[in-house]
Formats: sequence, C-alpha cells, structure tokens
Amino acid sequence: MENKTFVIVGTQWGDEGKGKIIDVLSPKADYIVRFQGGNNAGHTVVVNDEKFILHLLPSGIINSMGKCVIGAGVVVDIEVLLKEIEELEKRGRKLDNLFIDERAHVIMPYHIEMDKAKEEAMGANKIGTTQRGIGPCYIDKIARNGIRIGDLLEPERFKDKLEWNVKEKNDMLTRYGKATFDLEELYERFMKLAEKIRHRIIDGVVEINEAIEEGKQVLFEGAQALMLDIDYGTYPYVTSSSPTAGGVTVGTGVSPKKINRILGVMKAYTTRVGEGPFPTELNDEMGEKLRAVGHEYGATTGRPRRCGWLDLVIGRYAVLIDGLTDIVLTKIDVLTGFEKIKVAVGYEIDGKIYNSYPGNLRKSKPLNIVYDELPGWTEDITQIKNYDELPENCKKYIEYIEKKLKCNVSMISVGPERSQNIYRYDLTEIVK
Ligand code: GDP
Ligand code: IMO
Ligand code: MG
Repeated sequence: MENKTFVIVGTQWGDEGKGKIIDVLSPKADYIVRFQGGNNAGHTVVVNDEKFILHLLPSGIINSMGKCVIGAGVVVDIEVLLKEIEELEKRGRKLDNLFIDERAHVIMPYHIEMDKAKEEAMGANKIGTTQRGIGPCYIDKIARNGIRIGDLLEPERFKDKLEWNVKEKNDMLTRYGKATFDLEELYERFMKLAEKIRHRIIDGVVEINEAIEEGKQVLFEGAQALMLDIDYGTYPYVTSSSPTAGGVTVGTGVSPKKINRILGVMKAYTTRVGEGPFPTELNDEMGEKLRAVGHEYGATTGRPRRCGWLDLVIGRYAVLIDGLTDIVLTKIDVLTGFEKIKVAVGYEIDGKIYNSYPGNLRKSKPLNIVYDELPGWTEDITQIKNYDELPENCKKYIEYIEKKLKCNVSMISVGPERSQNIYRYDLTEIVK
C-alpha cells in the first residue's frame, strides 16, 4: 500500500501562501503536522471573508477534523500557543484535536530577550528576525541545554535545567546591558503553563508513524521556506531550522522512505521580509505595485515585504533540494495588468552562468541577472475555476515555469479565499 503522506513547503523566502494551500488541501487529512519553526510563521487562511492568521497552530486546524500535531522539530512559545487556542475557541472552534510532541523545545522568555538584544547589538549587520526567540531557542537545543515540552512534566528535572539556563542567560543579558530573569518566578510561571497543556502532550513519533502504517493520510506542514533554510538558504540571513522537505524527517521522526508527495508553494513573483540578498528585488514603481496589489505586508510583524520578479534560479534549487513532485503557483492574480513580466533564469558571476542558486554569493561580486520577458494579460482571473479559461498569456506564463523547472504546476491559486483555485493536474488523492 502506498503511504498517503504529503508535504507542503515554501520554495522562496516564506509567505508564498502556504497557509491558504494547506487549508484547501487538508480536509481529507487525518493528521496535519508542523515539523519546524515556531511563531515566526504567519499563515493566513481566508474563508468567506473571515481571516485567520496562524502562527503556531497547524493551518489545517480550520478545515480538517484530523489531529493537528506540533512536531518534535518545532520550537514552542507556550503563552503564544495558549493565546492562539483561546482566540480560535472564542471564534467557535473546538481545539480538542491539537497535540504537541514531548520532544519539541520550549521558547523561554529569555530567548526572546536574547533575540532582541543580539539584533540590537548587531546594528547594521542584523538579520531582521521576527524577535520571537527562535534563533536562541534552537541555539540551546543544539548546545544540548534546551528545555523540552516533556521536561515541564517533571518539575525537578525542569528546575535543574532552568537553573543552569537562567544563570547563563542572565550573564549574557547583563553583558548586553539588559534586565535579567528570576529563577523562582520563571519556575512558577512555567509550572502553571504546564498544567494548561499537559493533556495535549504526546509521543508524536509513535503516533504519526502508526497512523501512516494504518494508511491514514498525513499532511506535513512547512513554515518559512527553502531560502530561509539554515543550511541551503541565504546564510546568515536565514531562520534557524530546516524548512525543506528533508526537515520533515528530522522534525517528526518519520523516515524519508515514507514520504509520498512533495508540493512546493511558489508565489508567481518573489517577496522577502528582513535583511539579506534578494537578486530580483525591484526598488522601483514595479516593486511598489507588487506590494500594493499583493498586500505584501508581514502576517507576523506587519513589516512591508520586499518585492521582485519570479526567480527560477531559486525555483530550480527548490525542485532539486525539496525533490518537488508538484508546484502550487500562488498569487498569479497579482500579476494581472502588468504589460510585461520578467523572470530570472540565470545569474552571471565572473563570466560564469549559474542556473541553480550558488552557495557563495557575495555582495562584493557583481551579479548580472539573465531575465526572460513574457507578455502580460489584463483580464480579471480571480473567479476562474478551469485552466482552459485563463487568458492565453497567463497560461503561457504557467507553462513556461513548468518547462523551465521540469515540474508540474498542479494547482494555481488566484485569490486568498479557500475557493479561488484552479486544478491543472490530478490532486484527487489529497483533495476532497
Ligand atoms: P504563508 O506564510 O506562506 O502562509 O503566507 P502568508 O499568509 O504570510 O502570506 C500570503 C498572503 O497572500 C496572505 O495574505 C494570503 O491571504 C494571500 N494569498 C494567498 N494566496 C493568494 C492568491 O492566490 N492571491 C492573492 N491575491 N492573495 C493570496
Ligand atoms: P512563514 O511561515 C517570511 C524571516 C525573518 C528574518 C529571518 C530570521 O510565514 O512563511 P527568525 O525570527 O526566524 O529568526 O528570523 O527569517 N522569517 C520569515 N520570513 N515568512 C516567514 O514565515 C518567516 N519566518 C522567519 O523575517 O528575515
Ligand atoms: Mg507568512
């Protein structure tokens, strides 16, 4: 029996519309599992004009009756999680189906302060993080002194670990000239929080693997995206986790052997929040038009997103690293009304053409981008449901991407609403 598992990942710098696509593709899923990142994510779901922005909760929670699991590879700010649960419950959703792997790490208040203090100290060299404590929490995990969700259920063990961490972080915060933390206060605060999530703590590894073996459908939900990956992204301007398809196995304890299908969400143009390289960035009217029409403002921090043309050098890199079986192309409606649309197909550095994203881009080395130019269209496409009804030039754009990337564009999103989609190839095994 073929495993009914599929992965949804971002292929650019995040905010491709993963939340919307996960919502659309989740109704048949028995499990929806987040595998990395934390509340640096902001995933938007729009249903009949009602908008949800999810940070830690898997985006499938709105449209699926399945179990939603915050997997081992995620870093969890428990107070943010409780607030998200409370807000959704106030809006009439019941969240009895939400669970957290005991192995997930806890974002502690000192992680948030460390994140802020370091960014401030770095000045012009800052990463432009979301200041949610993500990096410092993953640092502690790798340094092997992190606090895991399961530790909260063992008060003595927790206190022991906390004591070391508070001492270490207070030393560091003092050096940054920042306020310090009180061990007892933190201990009491987290013991109370533990009681509020105790009933949601599970061994996700056993549960998810058993579900796959029983033929249940499991959707792995990525946050962030390839170009923010700690290894393959635009280091050091990246996040501290592995948002690629490979991250699924590390972040959930499911073998690569069990992953069936990998869908990469790709925006029809490119955006990025925070600092770092962005070869096709448009610092002109065209960039402003993309930002205005696409409402390109961060779902987590509200920061304006930097905007630019689609970059297929990055697209190829995504097909390669994620092993994409399908592309889901989003926000193509935003390109309506552009007379000409440019697409990057290569980078020229020192006379050499790169077709896949190089590991050694440097500011000091001039980068010449090779663009193709395609004709635009003017028709409103936001209500179209059948591929054949799209304007000719819009279809040409989609087929051009397919040809260049040698990967099917199986689904096209033409608006933020759950209903605004066009299916081009068969997704019946995952769609209702
Ligand atoms: P995520 O982080 O990948 O889930 O994406 P975000 O939610 O941060 O940002 C995507 C934004 O685009 C949200 O405001 C969505 O409601 C919106 N969106 C998603 N798909 C489409 C689409 O096909 N067309 C338009 N116009 N907006 C979309
Ligand atoms: P979703 O899931 C876009 C960016 C931050 C910053 C860098 C590091 O909504 O696509 P961090 O707080 O993770 O240490 O910040 O990564 N970043 C995102 N950009 N979408 C996201 O998530 C992001 N999560 C982090 O802006 O540049
Ligand atoms: Mg987002």
